[in-house]
Amino acid sequence: MDQIAVIGAGQMGSGIAQTVAQNGGRVLLSDIDLAVAEKAKAGIDKSLGKLVGRGKIEIAEAEAALARITPIADNAAMADAALIIEAATEREQVKKAIFEAAGEFLADGAIMASNTSSIPITRMANYAPDPARFIGLHFFNPVPVMGLIEVIPGLATAQATTDRITAFAEGLGKQVVLSQDEPGFVVNRILLPMINEAVFVLGQSTANIEDIDKGCRLGLNHPMGPLQLADFVGLDTCFEIIKVLYDTTGDSKYRPAPLLVKYVEAGWLGRKTGRGFYDYSGEEPVPTR
Ligand code: CAA
Ligand code: NAD
Repeated sequence: MDQIAVIGAGQMGSGIAQTVAQNGGRVLLSDIDLAVAEKAKAGIDKSLGKLVGRGKIEIAEAEAALARITPIADNAAMADAALIIEAATEREQVKKAIFEAAGEFLADGAIMASNTSSIPITRMANYAPDPARFIGLHFFNPVPVMGLIEVIPGLATAQATTDRITAFAEGLGKQVVLSQDEPGFVVNRILLPMINEAVFVLGQSTANIEDIDKGCRLGLNHPMGPLQLADFVGLDTCFEIIKVLYDTTGDSKYRPAPLLVKYVEAGWLGRKTGRGFYDYSGEEPVPTR
């Protein structure tokens, strides 16, 4: 596998880097500064260590995968990458700045892909050095575990780009769903209204957090209830996605639940901040309402 680069080393960028490295690819990993990218690499080390501990992979395999990941401070090093995957915060202005700067380091023939959960690919392609080589490549969380990747060509994406990206995704052992560039693509168009509705149900005191999640776990056989899943995804990300659905369609059915807005305003963003619908400071998550 060619060398790739990942911009944004949060939970998704880390998961993408780990997955690519476990499949033999070399990965350059960057974030707002080197320390964040290095911290992400330490997190990947821990995650690989858990797999070794469970007997899923050999220690030598984990060490080799880790050695293939290089945290970098300066995206100029990405001139050697055949593919750059942007996995930064779900805000169009953040991504726009990254794509605009990429003209300086995206190699001729290299592809720029976005892991956005919802922001229109056709629109963001205008910020990128070459819209024909820009595409949506939507991984699912946790990346090493989830079997799906959505591939979303924009209007200007070349067929050759879609073909190369599909082959890359399949090379990671994932299955691909091809989606048109419509708000929320396929899965989040369905998932986010469910999560948002769960927050309305909580806000209307129809049931408490525990029972809403229990209802969906036991009644629908979902591995996590919707509020636990919202915490897992990140409430800021959930809010940004539902806002994109609302803004791009103008359909009131996507209006963000007021309680979701409040949690984001409070900085209670879920697992990544230690508190969301659950408090993660103890051994076990505790519902906050
Ligand atoms: N790296 C590698 N493997 C991991 C892992 C990681 N970071 N985290 C978990 N695993 C593996 C474990 O090794 C274990 O493997 P085996 O079954 O082979 O032993 C397996 O995953 C299950 O892990 P656990 O036993 O620790 O935990 P669990 O059974 O509670 O499952 C879960 C954890 C996989 C996260 C499960 O709860 C789940 O599937 N939750 C729903 C996840 C989901 O819906 N994701 C999509 C979110 S939406 C999205 O991503 C799109 C977006 O744009 C917002
Ligand atoms: P996160 O908050 O865990 O990480 C985002 C990272 O981006 C942070 O480390 C932040 O420092 C970094 N960042 C911000 N501005 C940057 C910049 N200018 N340059 C480089 N890095 C920058 O978020 P996440 O959950 O990893 O989500 C990242 C992307 O993946 C978002 O677009 C999100 O919608 C998408 N996504 C998230 C999930 C999920 O379940 N969380 C699933 C699929 C896709």
